[in-house]
Amino acid sequence: MNILFESQNGTGYITINRPDKLNALNIDTINELKETILKVDQDKTIKCVIITGSGEKAFVAGADIEYMQKLTPNQALEFARLGQETLHLMETSGKPFIACVNGYALGGGFEVALSCDIILAQSNAKFGFPEVGLGIIPGFGGTQNLSRLIGKSLAKELIFSTKMIDASKAKELGIVSEVYQSKEELLQAGKALSEQIQKNAPLAIALAKRAIVDGYNLTKEDGLRYEASLFGVVFSSNDAKEGLSAFVEKRKPNYTGG
Ligand code: COA
Repeated sequence: MNILFESQNGTGYITINRPDKLNALNIDTINELKETILKVDQDKTIKCVIITGSGEKAFVAGADIEYMQKLTPNQALEFARLGQETLHLMETSGKPFIACVNGYALGGGFEVALSCDIILAQSNAKFGFPEVGLGIIPGFGGTQNLSRLIGKSLAKELIFSTKMIDASKAKELGIVSEVYQSKEELLQAGKALSEQIQKNAPLAIALAKRAIVDGYNLTKEDGLRYEASLFGVVFSSNDAKEGLSAFVEKRKPNYTGG
């Protein structure tokens, strides 16, 4: 099993599990990851998802280089499409995905983290894109997602130079929200964040995510129009009625997700 999955109290835990290969993404691992994300997305008991890497050294040290060595150009195109499609499923899911980055997040590993909604990191985390040093380029969305997150200039510097940045630099650049000393603290923080998110209305979270993710590539004017239409949509939900009445009635809301 290259992907481990468990769920507990509304949180789904996805662990990329090839520790002897620093959790490098080969085709089987990506296919398993895709199936797991699809399963999580359908499971109404799961409200928030945490992704991490097995072992102490790595979140994911990239796409599997031994596997890529044998690819023809057409197979490489298909591999990039599969990787992009898989990671895009996290962006289009209504559920928040939190990357808990322990150790190396290189190439495809950085791309997995960048496709999550929030990135928390252990102090040993190292982020980077080694691809051009291997004669290839990032292919699972890295060129697009990193430049949109930190700007074109910094993204070019990191991708062209292949230099790795540590967790505190990643926090300074706005890639990482918070840094934790140990893997235990990191996962604890991921769980606490998931629990805090779960106190809120799931449909509202899904629509807020849509507004941010889809709105990001629109002009501000179109983005505002999109936000206003989703604001209208959310008012058709029971949870909006419940949340607004609960405040007025000075009680805790009881959200059902409808
Ligand atoms: N693909 C395939 N195998 C990988 C891998 C990858 N991306 N990253 C690490 N591994 C394997 C190593 O080949 C090694 O396997 P082996 O024990 O069978 O020889 C094992 O994982 C442990 O890695 P190792 O290199 O011995 O660990 P290290 O601590 O000395 O170095 C790294 C860690 C991350 C610096 C180094 O593994 C590395 O540079 N990996 C490749 C990173 C990369 O270029 N990723 C982007 C790919 S597009």
